[in-house]
Amino acid sequence: MSAYKIAIAKGDGIGPEIMEAVLRIFDAAKVPLSYETIDMGKSIYDKGFSSGMTPEAKETVERLGVLFKGPMETPKGTGVKSINVTARKTWSTYANRRHFRSINGVDTVFSKAGIPIDLTIVRENIEGTYGGVEHMLTPDVALCRRFITRPGSLQVHKFAFEMARKEGFKKVTCAHKANIMKLTDGLFLETFYEVAKDYPEIESNDIIVDDLAMKLVSRPQLFDVVVLTNLQGDIMSDLCAGLVGGLGFAPSANIGENISIFEAVHGTAPDIMGKNMANPTALLLSGFMLLRHLSLMEHANLIENSLLKTLEDGNHTGDFGDRNIPSLNTTQFTDAIIANLGKVPSTGQARESKSTSTFHLPVKPVHQKVMLAAHGNQVEKIVGIDIFFESSMIANDIAPILLNHVKPGFKLVMIANRGTQVWPVGSLFTECVDQYRGRFETTDGSATTIIEMIRLSEAVAANFNVASIEILRYFNDKPGYSLAQGQ
Ligand code: NAI
Repeated sequence: MSAYKIAIAKGDGIGPEIMEAVLRIFDAAKVPLSYETIDMGKSIYDKGFSSGMTPEAKETVERLGVLFKGPMETPKGTGVKSINVTARKTWSTYANRRHFRSINGVDTVFSKAGIPIDLTIVRENIEGTYGGVEHMLTPDVALCRRFITRPGSLQVHKFAFEMARKEGFKKVTCAHKANIMKLTDGLFLETFYEVAKDYPEIESNDIIVDDLAMKLVSRPQLFDVVVLTNLQGDIMSDLCAGLVGGLGFAPSANIGENISIFEAVHGTAPDIMGKNMANPTALLLSGFMLLRHLSLMEHANLIENSLLKTLEDGNHTGDFGDRNIPSLNTTQFTDAIIANLGKVPSTGQARESKSTSTFHLPVKPVHQKVMLAAHGNQVEKIVGIDIFFESSMIANDIAPILLNHVKPGFKLVMIANRGTQVWPVGSLFTECVDQYRGRFETTDGSATTIIEMIRLSEAVAANFNVASIEILRYFNDKPGYSLAQGQ
């Protein structure tokens, strides 16, 4: 009897081969799931759906709440967005959970040194530079906006601590770059400690992300759960994949309030597509996360033990393992796992985890867009404007022109180029591009209005090609903008 029905998208490249392998193992283990197969990815882009998914596929996932997907190809250079990122963002799967654990039979530098790896990365999955909000400000200057929000950060931190509490993790570490990106990563870090207060039994600490990179390769055993912003989390989790044997062993779960997506971290491997050579392990490990999400603990443990036994015995596909033992093709490797169902490895058995899922069927109906807002009683005051404009003049020649537009009660505070102040003081050694930022503020820090600031930018636009503006605000007497380097 099927406990649940889930959506399956086989994906592109090796996707159908590894998905078939995993579903064959699920069937052999009598996993009580039934499937509704949907089309997403390359074939759908080719049919003219620029989002990479059809309305029917979208409806199926929104009805079933769980998508198990193979890797999907994003056509290069056609301007379409990655279906993988679109799916994660559309369905608000805000927490990307990735496990990295040493496996007997998968040799790495660390396994040879006798250092076991067992850590979990929780990556914020919606925001950061993956907001994908990019603009060319001049033909030479591209800008990417990096969104870090309070509600988005709270969500992912709560997920990490809740997971730690339910599954017995001892420590949660927040990795960040708040020493440099004081407002964005600063907000991510501040919300981390806000959430940590509600979980006193779990040790919490933070680390600068470059230090994390160094320590992950020198002392990985220092970490248990690490929570990061989107891009930093993406990079660090691939580093962790390297610690345990590569992308062939990196599973991933994208968890949201209503919908969750399970997939391998690797791509479509077009170089080995159709050759029956692909390693299905990463997708199978993602499948364990899916089964545990659905509280199918016994099935997850049964299959995980058979996989671990299969690997421990030296079975391997061509991409890893002992070169002295002939490699198996995808079909043979899958058969070996099925033959081992019911057996357990001599060491490192499947972790007996409790059900941690908050998942419930049917998917909670959503009748209107969900608004995430958490700012409470903030007093907001507008004190100025940053105007981004194009010019190939030097800053000392630009300043008199900008100063012409300054009305009584306002001042031109500085001119910056690529984030570094170049006027009123700067260095001749600061190389500039043709994109400047002029910062105007009220002389005494008193409030002004948006209309007043837009008028000022209109005036500046009479002399310069204005690309964008940013209003300068105080929130509860704290500036909501950063200083330029050198200001
Ligand atoms: P890739 O992960 O597909 O391949 C990198 C290398 O790893 C290749 O040599 C490949 O043969 C090998 N490899 C990957 N998975 C393997 C497996 N299961 N068994 C054996 N060998 C394996 O990365 P690449 O080449 O950068 O990307 C190819 C395509 O995949 C692109 O179109 C990209 O957009 C897409 N992609 C999709 C992802 C997803 O659906 N989540 C993630 C990453 C890439």
